[in-house]
Amino acid sequence: MTDLRLGGDAPACADDGTWLACVECGATLAPFDGIVYRCSECGGLLEARYADYPTFEKFSGEGVWRYRAALPFDAGVSIREGNTPLYEVPGIETEAGVADLHVKHEGANPTGSFKDRGMTVGVRVAEELGVDRLACASTGNTSAALAAYGARADTPVLVLLPAGKVAAGKVAQAALHGARICEVDGNFDDCLDVVAELADRGEAYLLNSLNPFRLEGQKTIGLEILEQSRAATGEWPDRIVLPVGNAGNTAALYKCFRELVAAGEMDESEMPALTGVQAEGAAPMVEAVEAGADEVERWDDVETRATAIRIGNPVNAPKALPGIYDTGGTAVAVSDDAITDAQRLLAEDGVGVEPASAASVAGLLELRERGEIGSGERVVCLTTGHLLKDPDAAAAAGGKPVSVPADADGVLDAIRD
Ligand code: F0G
Repeated sequence: MTDLRLGGDAPACADDGTWLACVECGATLAPFDGIVYRCSECGGLLEARYADYPTFEKFSGEGVWRYRAALPFDAGVSIREGNTPLYEVPGIETEAGVADLHVKHEGANPTGSFKDRGMTVGVRVAEELGVDRLACASTGNTSAALAAYGARADTPVLVLLPAGKVAAGKVAQAALHGARICEVDGNFDDCLDVVAELADRGEAYLLNSLNPFRLEGQKTIGLEILEQSRAATGEWPDRIVLPVGNAGNTAALYKCFRELVAAGEMDESEMPALTGVQAEGAAPMVEAVEAGADEVERWDDVETRATAIRIGNPVNAPKALPGIYDTGGTAVAVSDDAITDAQRLLAEDGVGVEPASAASVAGLLELRERGEIGSGERVVCLTTGHLLKDPDAAAAAGGKPVSVPADADGVLDAIRD
C-alpha cells in the first residue's frame, strides 16, 4: 500500500514551497515548469505537496479562497465557489437513527456542483502554465463547471460526454457557457481515455480529477465541513458519507485530513471515517473495499440512473482506497430505487439534489440497517449536485401534475383526494 504521509523538507524542484510528488514511488517534480498529469518515472498519480501545512487560524475570508494558505496560489478565476450550507436534516436524522446528521450541500455552488471548487484552482494553474485550450471528459458536472470557469478565464473549452447519458441540465450549462461539446459513442471511461490522449499529445490541458490541482480545490469541502461542524455542534463528525465516481472527493478529503495531521491540528484517530457509496450497477470501488484490495478492477459495463457516477474505472482509487482504510471507513453499493427514495427523503427536508448526491443518504440508511454505522455517530452526508441538474430524474421521482380547467371549482375538484 502506498505511503501517503506528509511532511519533510521541500525538494530542490519545489517552486515557492510547492511541488508534485508521485503517490506510488515518491518521485518529486517541479509543479509549473511543464505540464504533467502522471509520474514520469512510474506513471503513478501525482499529489501537490507543500513545505508548510496551515493551522485553522491561518484561514480568513469566504469560500474556496478562504483556504488560500492551503492552496498553491492566493487567488484564482472565481465565481464565488464554496461556502456551501451544512444543513440540519431532522427527517432523515430520525429515519437513520444516528446521534447527529448534517448534509453538506454542494449543489449550492455557482454551477450547482462541487466541481467549481476544483475548477477555480485548476483554471488558475492553467493560467500559470499558459495553456490555450482546457478539456475534460465528463458525466456532466465537470463539463458544466469547466465551461463556466473557462468562459470566465476567456480560454476555449472542449468537453467529451458519453452520448445520451448526461442529464439535460448539465449539457445545457456546457452549451450556454460556450464549450465545444463532443458526444462520444462510448461511456465516461472511454471519454476519459480519449481526452487523456489528447492532453498527452499537447492538444489541451486536462482538467479531470486526474489533475492533482483539481483535488486541491476540492479538499476545501473537508475544511469547510470541519469548521462548520465545530461551529454547529462543537465537534467534528465521526463519519463523512459521499458518492463515489472517480473517487476524487474521497482522495481530496483524505488529503485534507492528512494535511491537518501534518499541521498538528488533528490526531490520526480523529479523521472522520470516509464512507463511499456507489450505485450497484457501477460499483468497482465497493468491490475492491469488500475484498480489502489495494487496487480496483475496471468495470467495462456500467449502468445507473445516477448518471453522474456511471463510472467503471475510478482513476483516483490509488489515493482514495488508503483514505477509506486509514480512516476506518468503508464502501457500500445501493440500488437505483434506494437512490430515488433517498432523493425523496432529502426533498422532504427541503434539500433538492440530483440522484448521485442522494446515493450518500441511501448508503447511510443501508449501513445503519446492516449495523455498520452506530446510533451514536455524528455523520455528515455529502450531496454533490443540485436537483435541477437532472430535471428528468426529479420529475420522475416526484408527483405528477394534473390537468384542470381554468376555474376555482375545477382546481378544488382536482385536489380533493
Ligand atoms: N456526484 C456528482 C453529482 C458528480 O458529478 C460526481 C462526478 C460524483 C458525485 C463523483 O465524484 O468522481 O469525486 O468520486 N462527476 C464527474 C463529472 C465524473 O464528469 O461530472 P468523484
